[in-house]
Amino acid sequence: MKKEILDLRVKSVEKMAGRYSLLKLTHDNQLPEMLPGQFVEVRVDDSPSTFLRRPISINFVDRENNELWLLVAAIGDGTRHIAALKPGDTLNCVLPLGNGFTMPTDKAQRVLLVGGGVGVAPLLYMGAEMKEKGIEPTFLLGARSAGDLLETELFERYGRVCITTEDGSRGERGFVTNHTVLGEPFDMIATCGPKPMMMAVARYAYKAGVECEASLENMMACGLGACLCCVEKTTEGNICVCKEGPVLNIKKLLWHL
Ligand code: FES
Repeated sequence: MKKEILDLRVKSVEKMAGRYSLLKLTHDNQLPEMLPGQFVEVRVDDSPSTFLRRPISINFVDRENNELWLLVAAIGDGTRHIAALKPGDTLNCVLPLGNGFTMPTDKAQRVLLVGGGVGVAPLLYMGAEMKEKGIEPTFLLGARSAGDLLETELFERYGRVCITTEDGSRGERGFVTNHTVLGEPFDMIATCGPKPMMMAVARYAYKAGVECEASLENMMACGLGACLCCVEKTTEGNICVCKEGPVLNIKKLLWHL
C-alpha cells in the first residue's frame, strides 16, 4: 500500500471524555485507501520538546465526507499540541502505515472486538467495515468508569456493544475478561488497548481455541522500520511492530500464553 505524506486540514476538534479529543481531518484530494488497524504518523509543529512524529491509530474513515478521524489522548507535549489544534489548522501526516487487522470474509463468522481505553479507536473503523460487508461484530469495551468510555453510541451503529467498567458505573463491573459475553462462542477476536488487557484477552482466546489478533502499541519513532525502537520479540525473531505490525496474531507473540 503506497504511503503518502499529506498536509491534512483540521475540520473539527471535539473534546471527549477526560483527556481525549476527536480530530476530523480532510484534504482537497480524495484520501488514500486505509485499512482498519493501520495508523498514521503525525508531525507535531511548534512544540520545541517534540522532535519525532507521533503514531496515532486510524479511528474512522468517513469516505462520504472525505474525513479521517483520529482519537487523541493528550498525555504528553506532542499529543497535547495535536489536541489543541483548531479548525482550519494543518496537520502533516504520513499514512497509511502498518498492516491492519485480518478482515473476516464469512458472514457466519462470530467476531468479538475487544478494546480498552483509547485502544477502542481502531475497532470503530473495523466494525464499520465489517458491517458494510454484512458481518455484525460484538464489541466488548472496557474503561475505568463510565466517564472514560469513548464513542459508545458510534459503536452501537455497527454491532452489539458490551461494556465493563472497573467501578461498575456502567455495564458489568470488572475487566473485559470478566464479562459474561465471553461465555458465548466466537470464531475470531481482535483486540487493542493496554498490554495487560490484551494479554488477558489473548490468554482467554488461546484457551478457548479462538483465532485472535492484537494491535500492539509499542513505542514508535520513525514508523517506517528504520529506527528499531518498536522491536518486539516473536516466535519468528525480532520484528518491527511499525512495519510488520502493529497487528499480530497472538500465536506469534511470546506472551507465555
Ligand atoms: Fe522506527 Fe518501528 S518505529 S523501526
